[in-house]
Amino acid sequence: MDAFVIEGGRRLEGRLRVNGAKNAALPLMAAALLTDQPLTLRDIPPLADIRNMVALLGELGCSHEAPEDGVLRLQARDESKSHARYDIVRTMRAGICVLGPLLARRGEARVSLPGGCAIGDRPIDLHLRGLVALGATVFLKGGDIIAKAPRRRLKGGRVFLGGAFGSTVLGTANVMSAAALADGQTIIESAACEPEVVDLATMLNAMGANIRGAGSPRIIVEGVRDLRGIDHTVIPDRIEAGTLMCAAAITNGSLLLENCPLDALMAVSDRLEAAGVQMKALDRNGNPSSDPIPAGVDPMRVTVRVASERVLRPVEITTQPHPGFPTDLQAQLMALLTLAEGNSVITEKIFPERFLHVAELSRMGARLFRQGPTVIISGVRRLVGAPVMASDLRASASLVLAGLAAEGTTIVNRVYHLDRGYHKMEDRLASVGASVKRVDDKELAPQLVAAE
Ligand code: EPZ
Repeated sequence: MDAFVIEGGRRLEGRLRVNGAKNAALPLMAAALLTDQPLTLRDIPPLADIRNMVALLGELGCSHEAPEDGVLRLQARDESKSHARYDIVRTMRAGICVLGPLLARRGEARVSLPGGCAIGDRPIDLHLRGLVALGATVFLKGGDIIAKAPRRRLKGGRVFLGGAFGSTVLGTANVMSAAALADGQTIIESAACEPEVVDLATMLNAMGANIRGAGSPRIIVEGVRDLRGIDHTVIPDRIEAGTLMCAAAITNGSLLLENCPLDALMAVSDRLEAAGVQMKALDRNGNPSSDPIPAGVDPMRVTVRVASERVLRPVEITTQPHPGFPTDLQAQLMALLTLAEGNSVITEKIFPERFLHVAELSRMGARLFRQGPTVIISGVRRLVGAPVMASDLRASASLVLAGLAAEGTTIVNRVYHLDRGYHKMEDRLASVGASVKRVDDKELAPQLVAAE
């Protein structure tokens, strides 16, 4: 298995482009199942999860041209299959987002129940509540969800998609996609407001759907008979952008981030600036601007300089559904705040068990005290490199960030977790001054390799 060997203590300086958003791309790809016309998606990040989704869609009759320069062409030519098998869905639970499109277009769907994962249980009761509200019959058999539409066509309905932890991002994508082809009007109350949901609605409307209110808690869909193909560019990845901002800050460096979706990162910018990180957007002429989003600049594709040259101040963070602070950046901010001057507090309200990075950061000298869904971070003056183990996508990013700042060598084991959401992270960080090498853990002394 691959590991990263990181020599810490180097300031990051230079320019990086933010890639297209994985969490937008996956539901957009699933939307290829809503039509038999060709779908072209641009700025698709070359990630393991994307390759898994291409394989899953291939099994569901979608032809594809191998992504070239981030351009992925999909077309559902064979609509006879509607079974998304366990061995793909279990490796990537986002495979659940084929459920709504399959059901709406083909009148039936059989999708493996996604298992849990390192960040907690991943129930899909809200997804199923939404599809039942559209007239589907749903039952579980052998670990699969089997959903059928009466007379092969869904009927618009009203559904409240709120759960104990807020709304559901992929659940909203599933129900909104299905409603696009249902007969009549659908109202989704307590819909997820994430930018990735907005991107999906934007693309579906360009395909001929009639969706209003995406980005707000109430989405209204007027069903249509058919959807056409389209050429759509994926929004930039706000989580990758936030991770790179933390990389600049934790190394007291200065990074110029291009294609940065600042408009989708207001909660994160608020916390980073409260901690003392400087952020300066460039105007159309490439000059630093005093405006958070300079006039004439696309707020979702800003060039922004992120820098820090001092010890950071402690802050309080609570993760919330969008537009609140994103749970997917909780681990990365925790790594940053381990070096702040004072006590920070992070409360995780979306995935209360999403703390596998806590024990690993502590191995590097961080002083972290967990009480249930809350962690107190008592700032220390330095972290010390150590062998640590990645456990999930964002926890891996957190450990890489800590390794960039730590004194000495950090070995991050099992970086396949990282590869699911970040393309060639080692090369990108090295291009701005980091010392990060990808090695096969067989090359490492046994004591440095994570125990099974
Ligand atoms: C999406 O997952 C993202 N994944 C996750 O990012 C992200 O953490 C999550 O949204 C929350 O923002 C993709 O977009 C591919 P949810 P999703 O349904 O849609 C509970 C990453 O690191 N819930 O919004 O699966 C659930 O347990 C990944 O890129 C129910 O109770 O998450 C959680 O507590 C990790 N019932 C909360 O809601 C349901 O039917 C939010 O989950 C569905 C969810």
